[in-house]
Amino acid sequence: MQIDTMENAYMLVKDGIIIEIGTGTRAQLENQSNWPNLTDSSTNYHEISNSFESKTSPEGTSTEKTSPEERNSEKFTPNDSSSEIEWIDLNGAEVMPGLVDSHTHIVFAAPRHEEFALRIQGASYEEIAAAGGGILNSAQKLRETSEDQLFEDASKRVKLMMEWGTTTLEIKSGYGLSVESELKMLRVIKRLKQTFPIRIRATFLGAHAFPIEFKNRRDDYIDLILRDMLPAVVADDLADHIDVFCDEGFFTPEQTEKILMKAQQYGLPAKIHGNELGLTGGVQVGVKMNAWSVDHLEHCSEVEMELFKQSNGNTIPVALPGTSYFLGIPYAPTRKMIDYGLPVALATDFNPGSSPVASLQTVCALACTQMKLMPQEVFHAVTCNAARSLRLENEVGCLAVGMSADFLVMKSKDAVKTIPYYLGQNQVQQTFCRGLNVVN
Ligand code: NIG
Ligand code: FE
Repeated sequence: MQIDTMENAYMLVKDGIIIEIGTGTRAQLENQSNWPNLTDSSTNYHEISNSFESKTSPEGTSTEKTSPEERNSEKFTPNDSSSEIEWIDLNGAEVMPGLVDSHTHIVFAAPRHEEFALRIQGASYEEIAAAGGGILNSAQKLRETSEDQLFEDASKRVKLMMEWGTTTLEIKSGYGLSVESELKMLRVIKRLKQTFPIRIRATFLGAHAFPIEFKNRRDDYIDLILRDMLPAVVADDLADHIDVFCDEGFFTPEQTEKILMKAQQYGLPAKIHGNELGLTGGVQVGVKMNAWSVDHLEHCSEVEMELFKQSNGNTIPVALPGTSYFLGIPYAPTRKMIDYGLPVALATDFNPGSSPVASLQTVCALACTQMKLMPQEVFHAVTCNAARSLRLENEVGCLAVGMSADFLVMKSKDAVKTIPYYLGQNQVQQTFCRGLNVVN
């Protein structure tokens, strides 16, 4: 899969959508007789002059058209009535598509430093979880924290991520684990959608862990999800997808299927946390239930790879190297997956327990050094393949006519190569989303 680049390029943006891409100087363009009609007062053009990188569609994916924007009624609406053409000269700086972070948990109440210290001393993620820490620790803290406080803290994380180039962001609930607290989390995500110009997608993850009060009656918690949580989430239109943590010690494939079946009746597509702790059937149930992605995959044999392949780009494998780094667990075998022909996506999994990593650029660096992916492979993994895992591949993830004008002005040339090279050094100078300069 190649990455196409252009020198001396310009991009014409109208109403947040790229309507033209070409080469030439401002003077040359203004002399063209067919250049856009500037007397049209209903339009707002941005002309961006630079050199930029675009790319081809994800390999191994279908071209099914979806319109997730229609589902996203609470999206941010820019208030811009200007009719003037606005020229933005980037002085030859390099431009690339905005990054797509398809898996995060950024609404949380507090960090979990104490667990970090325990793990440094040898405790495992599973041991901490079994002792009532982990997700349950975050759930306890979230229940004690106000909605406003959660929104304020999550807003800081969104801003940070925008600075590091994220222009599309998926956010999960899952630290509520009660009807009231799951809805609280999802309302915070809805408010983030309304506040920030980047695309945000919400995922209902009530099936993230079994709360303490349901420790010995797990089926009752499943009933609570099916009977009370799901209908309430859908009634308030708070989620774009559903997710289940299908893994050892958490939800079984059978429980996962039961939850996803019900969600399907409500029209909620699935994403799955699977195979983080073992070969536990997450891919099998994910592919069977038409999940848009199965994420984690620190354990993934050829059997699972073949299932992904058979899905023909319907179910995207999403790897989370920040989690492997932070927990000291194996990295997903993404080298093998890509060699097997799979359209792998990468995400941060930004959360307080297993991946306090906000930057997709850092994820790119880990993927190159630890997973042995090439820079162009990680670029595709955090742009077009990640977009596909959210069914947004017709809107974001590449710079082409008809796509959203989500792009990054880079500090360096050859950013595809410098991003994974300069670990921890932000390569993004400016972030644009829907044609708006959201970080400069
Ligand atoms: O994706 N694995 C499950 N859920 C999160 C971790 C959540 C937590 O530990 O707080 C993850 O790694
Ligand atoms: Fe996660």
